[in-house]
Amino acid sequence: MASLVGMIVDPTKTDAWAELTRWHASLTPDLRKWFLDPGRAAELTFSAGDLHVDLSKNLVNRAVWNALIQLANEVGLAEKRDAMFRGERINVTENRSVLHTALRRPRTDSLVVDGADVVAQVHETLDKVYAFADQVRSGAWQGVTGKRIKTVVNIGIGGSDLGPVMVYEALKPYVQPGLQCRFVSNIDPTDMAEKTAGLDPETTLFIVASKTFTTLETLTNARMARDWLWARLVEQGAIDDTDEARTGAVAKHFVAVSTALDKVAAFGIDPANAFGFWDWVGGRYSVDSAVGTAVAVAVGPENFADFLHGFHTIDRHFVETPFEENVPVLMGMLNVWYVNFFGARSHAVLPYAQYLHRFAAYLQQLTMESNGKGVRADGRPVTTDTGEVFWGEPGTNGQHAFYQLIHQGTQLIPADFIAVVNPAHPTKDGDADVHELFLANFFAQTKALAFGKSAEEVRAEGTADDIVPARVFKGNRPTTSIMAPSLTPSVVGQLIALYEHITFVQGVVWGIDSFDQWGVELGKQLAMQIAPAISADDAALEKQDPSTRALIAYYRKHRA
Ligand code: F6P
Repeated sequence: MASLVGMIVDPTKTDAWAELTRWHASLTPDLRKWFLDPGRAAELTFSAGDLHVDLSKNLVNRAVWNALIQLANEVGLAEKRDAMFRGERINVTENRSVLHTALRRPRTDSLVVDGADVVAQVHETLDKVYAFADQVRSGAWQGVTGKRIKTVVNIGIGGSDLGPVMVYEALKPYVQPGLQCRFVSNIDPTDMAEKTAGLDPETTLFIVASKTFTTLETLTNARMARDWLWARLVEQGAIDDTDEARTGAVAKHFVAVSTALDKVAAFGIDPANAFGFWDWVGGRYSVDSAVGTAVAVAVGPENFADFLHGFHTIDRHFVETPFEENVPVLMGMLNVWYVNFFGARSHAVLPYAQYLHRFAAYLQQLTMESNGKGVRADGRPVTTDTGEVFWGEPGTNGQHAFYQLIHQGTQLIPADFIAVVNPAHPTKDGDADVHELFLANFFAQTKALAFGKSAEEVRAEGTADDIVPARVFKGNRPTTSIMAPSLTPSVVGQLIALYEHITFVQGVVWGIDSFDQWGVELGKQLAMQIAPAISADDAALEKQDPSTRALIAYYRKHRA
């Protein structure tokens, strides 16, 4: 703990911060003018793995750029990054190493932390996950009546859900025909009811994914799933109504992913059917661990290995590339520039790739659970704003919904646009290539946001004077464009690793522990205290505040 805490630098006290403050006061962003420099686009476009990243439409000139890099140096970003990769306990409030980067290191690597080779442990588990995936995919793994598995239902929440569901959706074209995954996360019983609707219990396999194996939602859903399985199997005459038959059914239809294998066994799942991981993997950083088992089953071990390779490619880029060309560093520092100097409170992520339709939801946990903090790692208050709101929807749907506010609203909303060159489903509409029409929107939006439309240009179109102001686009709305050849498993891994490291960079500047999540605890505790008051416990009800009491009274009055 001491080492990292000792290293915290108040960013606002650095020379670079003073320089950035001066620049912010004196700089009038003018992308139209800045692009008169014919070298700007090339100078500010970078590669990381397969990702082609154009940062040129951001509100920076060379001097700001240099000051941002200087700030990264002054806060000790390189040392902190290296400490994370080495396995130092940089998650100080939980006294844990932060080693999601070890999950994707090749088998030939070795990293000894606290006396154990974590890379060897990772590959031992991966081998087990892959063997299981092969069994399910080949039909060697059979349900209790000898039928092959057709549906895998992942039960988990937060990091044990958002990553797997996002990646499964992103990699749909790679899913083995005849197999599907569904994902249950919410404790709202509707979620389980809808996700099990139409399923045959004889061909359904549940994966209970929970790092702690204590999460209320997941364990409740797992018990409901077990009841559903037993009831349906008995109803169909597939098993006898005996304890022994039930135990046998669980063995064939339930596996688990957790760091708490003792609790898995207590639930009734054979530890032989459990895949472990380690406390040095945060939930929101875990899709590349055994938490991705549903994905590994769906797309197969080879594609999953390619996915991991994608992460590792970006890890290496982050570690090996000078800051001047280091994409996660540059994107993280740009976010700091917008949050702390322009007062940006949110950041849009807009994939022009329908298969990435859950990417923004996934990023919300990654970024906001990581950097939504008001105290630093040393327990002192932060000295500047932290964590912006991340949000987004796939283009072009977002264009017809909220882009109005990005184009003409009063807030500055930096936006990342993501697209791939080659679609999974090339399609023509007459002579027109539909993906090209789609990409025309991707290119047009960042152009409109950057360069806008002046009053003179609006007037020149014959617009009446009184309407002109409403049709002016001020421009200078910052965007980053990220492109890749296609949405392969590797590219999906690269995108995730990119945002993991952007999040880390911002957390380092702000001096916070990006790897704990104490802010989610209070609500969980109160829910447990309130639960008895809802049904009948009047003494528990009396202890509540007046608003909560009145809301529960309304519930009691209207429940059927
Ligand atoms: O409540 C937040 C959280 O702890 C997340 O950080 C985590 O991803 C999620 O709950 C689920 O936790 P678990 O995997 O232990 O069930």
